[in-house]
Amino acid sequence: MRLTLILSVGLLLAVPALSARQAVLNPKARLALDLDGKWNVIVDPYDNGYYDYRLQPFDANPNPSGGFFLDRVPANKSELVEYSFDRSPTLTVPKDWNSQDAKLLLYEGAVWYRRIFDYTAKAGTRVFLHVGAANYESQVYLNGKKLGEHTGGFTPYDLEVTGTVKANGNSLVIRVDNRRHREGVPTVNTDWWNYGGLTREVYLFTTPQTLLSRYTVRLQPGDPAKLEVLAELDGPQLRQEVTVEIPELHLAETTSSDEQGRARLVADAPADLQRWAPEHPKRYDVHVKCASDEIVEKIGFRTIEVKGRDILLNGQPIFLRGICLHEENPMRGGRAYSREDAQLVLGWARELNCNFLRLAHYPHNENMAQVADELGLLLWEEIPVYWTIQWENPATLQNARQQLNDLIVRDHNRASVIIWSVANETPPGEARTNFLRQLVTDARALDGSRLVSAAMEVRTAPDNPHRKIVDDPLGEFTDILSFNEYVGWYDGTPESIPLVEWALKYDKPVVITEFGADALQGFHADNLTRFSEEYQADVYRKTVPMLRQIPQLRGMSPWILCDFRSPRRLLPNVQDGWNRKGLIGENGVKKEAFSVLASFYAEIRDQGYLKK
Ligand code: GCU
Repeated sequence: MRLTLILSVGLLLAVPALSARQAVLNPKARLALDLDGKWNVIVDPYDNGYYDYRLQPFDANPNPSGGFFLDRVPANKSELVEYSFDRSPTLTVPKDWNSQDAKLLLYEGAVWYRRIFDYTAKAGTRVFLHVGAANYESQVYLNGKKLGEHTGGFTPYDLEVTGTVKANGNSLVIRVDNRRHREGVPTVNTDWWNYGGLTREVYLFTTPQTLLSRYTVRLQPGDPAKLEVLAELDGPQLRQEVTVEIPELHLAETTSSDEQGRARLVADAPADLQRWAPEHPKRYDVHVKCASDEIVEKIGFRTIEVKGRDILLNGQPIFLRGICLHEENPMRGGRAYSREDAQLVLGWARELNCNFLRLAHYPHNENMAQVADELGLLLWEEIPVYWTIQWENPATLQNARQQLNDLIVRDHNRASVIIWSVANETPPGEARTNFLRQLVTDARALDGSRLVSAAMEVRTAPDNPHRKIVDDPLGEFTDILSFNEYVGWYDGTPESIPLVEWALKYDKPVVITEFGADALQGFHADNLTRFSEEYQADVYRKTVPMLRQIPQLRGMSPWILCDFRSPRRLLPNVQDGWNRKGLIGENGVKKEAFSVLASFYAEIRDQGYLKK
């Protein structure tokens, strides 16, 4: 056994004051008060509750005269207060506002959420507010005091409320604004619905004064015979003994943290440790302890790497039988957020004989990776650097880096997550490639144990419409070559698919991150009629053998498991605000192409792909 004291998780990025971040790993294990349920809301399209008539933010004023965050109630019949949360309607949290009220389906603007709660903190504990996600920008106030703000609709944040929370009648006000911004991440145009609101859980959690804020427990990258543990303390007592215990493996190892509260230990991995894998998603209860705190988490141990043209899971070549997924429950037509939502869609993926999913195009809720860990499904996770964002805007880069940091911090102990993706369909160019290289570098610095990539694009040879070239300069820096192709839908008709010849610049494992075609579930015609199930099925029937011509092919995730809402899809009586490339309709009914892909996946699951 070798003991050393260095490292920690998390990039040191300069973040503005009051800017909220995920402070504590696995906060749900420290749940103190669930704040889900009905919240009073004020829909505020003119930001009347945020700015005064001179467009000065009320909360910037040390003695604010107005502002909905004050949650004022007239003291007497003469006092003028022109809003009232008590008399306002309610919305459910967690849930997007768009699917709760037809008037809000297309609403883009600010909504004020207010929740009253009582909470008596145990002496000596610290109290935090956790917000699972708020799309897109949010400001948080407690009892009229601004606690912090956050940008980014898909990553969690915590705010410490120790000393601010009172025993009774706390007024928690959160302003959420889902307006799109050119400099944003994502930017103004996306092919998904801009669901707004408190879309994931909100709760209070408590910790000791000095807590274990971050920890990593994994097989050591590059030497899987070793177990590596990284831990970080936060609080007054930074120098402590830190112990990791895995009772089922009779493992208990201790080290000490340094003056910055950081600890690292490397120990021999027990000989009887069972690796996590899709066929055997074994997880262990892992206890990380110090004198002042203890946290327990179920963690699976596996390795993922590339070797030549192969992707190796636990040292064995694997073919990623995948499908793409948006974070939506199509049956409800709203953002997915619960374990049940995850079980529904991941269950469908299992029926498709998948062992892999690409969670597009932004961090999905935590339940996805937790349920994938339990079911044995491998995941690609991505940040919404989508299409054409402002590559030369430093604030946009900072925003993207922070979202990547927060995603990796949140999910880096999930065995199911094997690939971090830094972008989707972005136009090659110097500024863009430098931007993405920074993100690739960040991902490797934050977590050297997983693959890093992006969904790149294909270009057609000027002299041959069937010659498809992948030579994106970013491909040099990614672990795999992953790209989207739409031959047969945006590029020609299904007849042209068998004619495709590939010219790939990089000899790396290839994962096709998107292909597909729209089909309205239940619409049947010949296989040349757009939007028919037959057309879509034909695209699948022709694309699979065409892709198998690529010697480096090691996986695919067609676009997409189920139909999803998109404001860009407006064809009446066909799309009606839905992208119809799902293999399952919004009614949960499978289309013909579902069984085409399912049988291909069953074949390679049973016969193996690489042994052909
Ligand atoms: C793109 C994109 C998706 C989009 C899909 C489509 O490739 O990455 O976000 O929904 O194609 O056009 O259906």
